[in-house]
Amino acid sequence: MPDTKTETRTATLSFDGKSFELPMHSPTAGPDVIDIQKLYSSAGVFTHDPGFTSTSSCESGLTFIDGDEGILLHRGYSIDELAEQSHYLEVCYLLLYGELPDKKTLDNFEFTITRHTMIHEQMHNFFRGFRRDAHPMATMVGVVGAMSAFYHDSTDIHDSWQREVASHRLIAKMPTIAAMAYKYSIGQPFVYPRNDLSYAANFLRMCFAVPAEEYVVDPVLERAMDRIFTLHADHEQNASTSTVRLASSSGANPFACIAAGIACLWGPAHGGANQACLEMLREIGTPDRIPEFIARAKDKNDPFRLMGFGHRVYKNFDPRARVMKKSADEVLDLLGIEDNPTLQVAKELEKVALEDDYFADKKLYPNVDFYSGIILDAMQFPTAMFTPIFAVARTVGWVSQWKEMISDPALKIGRPRQLYTGPVQRPYVPIEKR
Ligand code: SDX
Repeated sequence: MPDTKTETRTATLSFDGKSFELPMHSPTAGPDVIDIQKLYSSAGVFTHDPGFTSTSSCESGLTFIDGDEGILLHRGYSIDELAEQSHYLEVCYLLLYGELPDKKTLDNFEFTITRHTMIHEQMHNFFRGFRRDAHPMATMVGVVGAMSAFYHDSTDIHDSWQREVASHRLIAKMPTIAAMAYKYSIGQPFVYPRNDLSYAANFLRMCFAVPAEEYVVDPVLERAMDRIFTLHADHEQNASTSTVRLASSSGANPFACIAAGIACLWGPAHGGANQACLEMLREIGTPDRIPEFIARAKDKNDPFRLMGFGHRVYKNFDPRARVMKKSADEVLDLLGIEDNPTLQVAKELEKVALEDDYFADKKLYPNVDFYSGIILDAMQFPTAMFTPIFAVARTVGWVSQWKEMISDPALKIGRPRQLYTGPVQRPYVPIEKR
């Protein structure tokens, strides 16, 4: 568990002539919290916070976000430094174990993860049960959930060794499963992982190699892929991570809980935004159509939103978007498509939106999904693979948050209450009297 919180003072809640003292805790960073765990038992009232805009659901030491300053830290290290100087498997180790590893430890970790990258051969049959045009996220939800039917020796959440093996298996096998979902969707044979390749290079090769010829990974694309994984690794208690935590609180096995996280990530308001953003940029097509879409985004009667803009927490820039934008320029420059029309629309849209009072007032800035789709598109991934790639990267965050929660002795099942506004009790009326 993280450094302990400190109980600093109490908050007084007064209503109906009564007062209740609630303990407050100061974190190592971020806002103080008012601990309301005993509120209902002492005051007989609930708090009400749909969407959890003002609610801390847990204590965690993994990732910290300062939405006003555009800061993202993993175990205290800034995402800018990690994206520039580290690499994805080292960030995985940091999230899982809390410290940057020395070389021997990192080599051992990478050896372990690499040798878990194959999946049980019988699982290949699962893919053949799906339609070829199934969305790869549907395939991933199904196949990852089915892992609990194949890896029985790592489903006991009370056994620390099994938790460790399940964590390694999930981080290692997710790229293989995502690549297999892609290959299956285009009718090409599955490509087995190779132990002599990096995590990112392995994924690119499993997606793009064909038996008919050797596939050589371009180091610039390998670096960009690794950076995309790093930038998506973990992000506090976002919707899919909260889903994993809630599913895990019932004691469900880790594979089922991660499958729940994948399902939640799929939504266009969350991880599905990278696919939706690129489709929106393509629909806009040329910079001269941007005002039309800006007007729609501002129209209260139009459900349209600018995909890739806005964030529940970042009310300034998303530090990941800044790094991603740099990567986009590098990849497009390498591929000689720096005049990529989608990128031109993206850059002009970003400029126009940031100059528009509506977006400035509502603090709507490009988020991590705004540029990632452009890079993935330039790397020849179909848009349907964008969210599966996000799921691959976020697996370490889900697993690390899961491990942190499961090892907390104070763990209890998550069971929110409600503000009930339905009918009060009334007698049943026989049908002949209705
Ligand atoms: C991710 O939580 C995480 O950490 C997520 C994530 C992670 O790493 O896990 O960072 C990954 O999910 C990034 C977000 C990807 N989603 C999108 O790009 C989809 C487009 N963005 C919106 O759907 C929205 O901004 C959200 C869902 C991201 C955040 O929504 P909030 O915080 O609940 O804000 P809101 O919907 O209440 O909007 C506040 C106001 C509203 O106007 P009012 O009702 O107050 O008048 O801003 C408007 C909204 O209408 N608004 C937008 C907008 N986003 C919000 N208007 C136009 N375009 C947008 N994109």
